[in-house]
Amino acid sequence: MDREKKYKKTILIESDDDAALKDAAEHLRNGEVIGFPTETVYGLGCDAGNGEAVKKVFEAKGRPADNPLICHIGDKDQIKDIVSEITPLAQTLIDAFMPGPITIVMKKADSISDETTAGLDTVGVRMPSHPVANKFLKYCGVPVAAPSANLSGRPSPTGARSVLEDMDGYIYAIIDGGDSEFGLESTVVDCTGTDPVILRPGAVTKADIDSVLKNKEAVMAGSLSGKEAPRSPGMKYRHYAPYAQVEIMEMPEGTKITGDDAIGTDGKIADAKFTVDDLKKLSDDEAKELVNIASPFILRSRELLSKNPFTRIGLYCGSEIKAVYDKLNDKILSAHTEFCVYGKTVDVSCASHGLFEGLRFLDVQEVDVILAQGFNGEGLSVAYMNRLGKAAGKKEELTPGMPAPARPARTPLPIDAFKDTFTGSVLFVDDNNISLSACCEALMRRMLEKNEPYISNSEADTGFEIYCESAGLTAMDGLDPDSQMDKAVRELTGLGLSSIESRRANPAIYDCNDLILTVRDEQAFAIIKAFPEIKDKVFSLSTFAAANGLVMKDSSGRVMSISVPDPSGENYETYLHTAKALNAWLEILFPYILKDLGASRV
Ligand code: TXA
Ligand code: MG
Repeated sequence: MDREKKYKKTILIESDDDAALKDAAEHLRNGEVIGFPTETVYGLGCDAGNGEAVKKVFEAKGRPADNPLICHIGDKDQIKDIVSEITPLAQTLIDAFMPGPITIVMKKADSISDETTAGLDTVGVRMPSHPVANKFLKYCGVPVAAPSANLSGRPSPTGARSVLEDMDGYIYAIIDGGDSEFGLESTVVDCTGTDPVILRPGAVTKADIDSVLKNKEAVMAGSLSGKEAPRSPGMKYRHYAPYAQVEIMEMPEGTKITGDDAIGTDGKIADAKFTVDDLKKLSDDEAKELVNIASPFILRSRELLSKNPFTRIGLYCGSEIKAVYDKLNDKILSAHTEFCVYGKTVDVSCASHGLFEGLRFLDVQEVDVILAQGFNGEGLSVAYMNRLGKAAGKKEELTPGMPAPARPARTPLPIDAFKDTFTGSVLFVDDNNISLSACCEALMRRMLEKNEPYISNSEADTGFEIYCESAGLTAMDGLDPDSQMDKAVRELTGLGLSSIESRRANPAIYDCNDLILTVRDEQAFAIIKAFPEIKDKVFSLSTFAAANGLVMKDSSGRVMSISVPDPSGENYETYLHTAKALNAWLEILFPYILKDLGASRV
């Protein structure tokens, strides 16, 4: 389905702005699409009785039209207008779990458009417990058809920002209601037969449902065979897929999982700070268990890196695993690993709460592979593993030299949620400062801008600003850049070197930079020889690559280093070629530079 931007900007509405909520509800009744929060994930809502509005939702999502939407209500009284019959079974589940993270499939009433149910004679009904959703749905007054607010196939959004990432310009407005409590979509239960069938596991578990049933049990859809299985059309589609390849790391048998009784937890991420010091305090048995949990991550990472030293690996894991990595202190392994820590390793409600945002976060870090913690418990673990399994179940083994699947261009996001800002700075050094080092500075500035904003890796919710400059070991101060290099950089990036004036490197300049990268090896050696106390932050492009395990070999297996010949005196084509080569190197080094400074994209 064609996806066409309909709005210059999607309006972002604060949840306490009552007038704006009412305005959004009115727009919804007039056929517009509104993103809204729920306790499971964000939804993309429209008037369920308006077929044209429903088509807009399918279009904004890029979703196949044969996958039905569920109807959201703000009041249980609305159910009778949506369905043709409420069976005693359905009534039992309504009484027990609504409002809450459950969708109950019943026979539909005529008032619901065929577009909403994709032609089925049944409809899924859901009453969210999220206070903002509840208020908004009451203002709407009509049943609101809504799928999760992600682009079809992408992880469901559990924060307003992720909705904006997928939907900016495609829908009228998004209501920001904070993080979704559960983080996984509702349990879908078909109640049209005699026994309830769980079509999609969620935070309302089979055990929860069984506990309110007399003389019967809920059936998991996958366990029914052949044509007796009522199908949820959505289950046949690929889901929750980040751009990176996902692999599940198994939890050792017998590990005690916590948070499996999801209903009733407040969904808050548990205090997840677990440091190397905590690790030291553990008994031998406890420490051994953690190393057991961490070892699938470490072994698989090393295997991936031995096949392809350029692999970048994202970990969706618990804080103890990060502590094991920190204790291990393997520079190359760490340089290739991006962490998204959800909480305590064994806490499946934290893992569920953070899963979709975690997959999105690791995607933004442009990792090639995501290794994610698996759970082997009952209850909520079933829903978590269902989603993770779908995210994992698609791609082939990454082969050396194979690029990760194409990602769309990053769109800088307007929401600014940082409590503070740290800074870091990188300096490029050559002999003079009118050609190669200036070129590096200009290219790096552009890369930094393109990938903004950044957050601190050490301090949660803290922004990170990155500066970049250049200097020359033997440079004269105040010279204009080489006009040929200026032209080459302009051709490559649209912006030249005109803002860069040459200057000589000196200790004061070294002092205010956190990472110093020289164009050639001898230059790094010269700086270190003169100022041994700063040796830990001085590298050449080549030694920086090597320190991060980026070993390149030529066809005969010889290790290659980054060598950038000085183009001065050569023709323009040589300059352009050089600028392109530097750009390619810097693109490769970029994530390692970020990591060295202590920042991540966000
Ligand atoms: O938590 C949730 O359920 C979220 C929030 C926004 O409420 N919504 C959500 O919607 O996840 P969606 O469209 O992404 O997933 C709904 C699932 C799909 O797998 C769909 O096939 C299934 O429910 N479904 C909807 N109506 C159905 C029906 N009448 N019969 C069987 N399955 C149905
Ligand atoms: Mg969905």
